Amino acid sequence: MTEHIKTERKDGIFTLTFARPDKKNALTNAMYGVLADALIAAETDPAARVIVLRGEGDMFTSGNDVGEFAAIAAGAVQGERHVSRFIRALAQSTRPLVAAVQGRAVGVGTTMLLHCDFVVLAENALLSTPFVNLALVPEAASTLLMPLRIGHARAYEMFTLGDAMDANTAKDLGIANRVVPLDRLHTEAAGVAARLAKLPAGSLAATKRLMRDAAVLTAQIGAESQCFAERLKTAEAREAFTAFAERRPPDFMKVA
Ligand code: COA
Repeated sequence: MTEHIKTERKDGIFTLTFARPDKKNALTNAMYGVLADALIAAETDPAARVIVLRGEGDMFTSGNDVGEFAAIAAGAVQGERHVSRFIRALAQSTRPLVAAVQGRAVGVGTTMLLHCDFVVLAENALLSTPFVNLALVPEAASTLLMPLRIGHARAYEMFTLGDAMDANTAKDLGIANRVVPLDRLHTEAAGVAARLAKLPAGSLAATKRLMRDAAVLTAQIGAESQCFAERLKTAEAREAFTAFAERRPPDFMKVA
């Protein structure tokens, strides 16, 4: 368990809140564990008709905890890694997933949105996927979903150059449904979730199943995960993680 994920069940809506604002909601193994368990449990919980993902503080999430990446790269981490369970549970969820995003959504913070069925962005939302900047590869089936959603050229640019996309661009390109002022973000997301919760759950699940092939997504996640695990152990990745810890830009040209 971790206090860094808050869960709330009310009126058929299961809300999962990233609650580590002092670290910009960077996601740890323990947090992924709680998120995965919650998504899996929701599948058989009739009271969880809709799932809402949101973050406390000024950001949705700054993505995977980079310190944990570094620890894995150094071989200092043993035991079960929950991130794969979380990503698979997202891809396989039959429940409507609603996201409410303010500020930055980095890495998995953005790729998880590609699994959400309804994405509400605050005007200040900034989506980025700087996987190559960290000498890694994109995950969560985003190598399939992102080019499908926004086209190969834009997806390649996001994955490699890592620049952030603003809220209105994300909406125009079909990553998000709505852009609202920051102070209306959670009300808007809650309103959408409440509408979805009143719809016939069986019909929602069947519609979602027809719209996305969980088996194809899971296979893509498998291929990405293997490559990601290999990349974590490279000298390039070590340079990226060291640079983050030392608060300096990485210098990949010095890596042989
Ligand atoms: N992993 C671990 N710690 C993180 C983190 C992450 N992904 N993102 C932020 N933090 C920590 C910072 O190290 C800092 O900790 P400290 O107060 O102990 O020094 C704290 O959260 C606040 O972050 P800071 O960088 O000061 O905030 P900012 O508003 O200036 O910048 C970001 C926010 C998200 C732009 C910046 O923190 C960042 O680039 N983080 C890394 C994002 C990333 O590469 N994620 C992985 C993607 S695959």
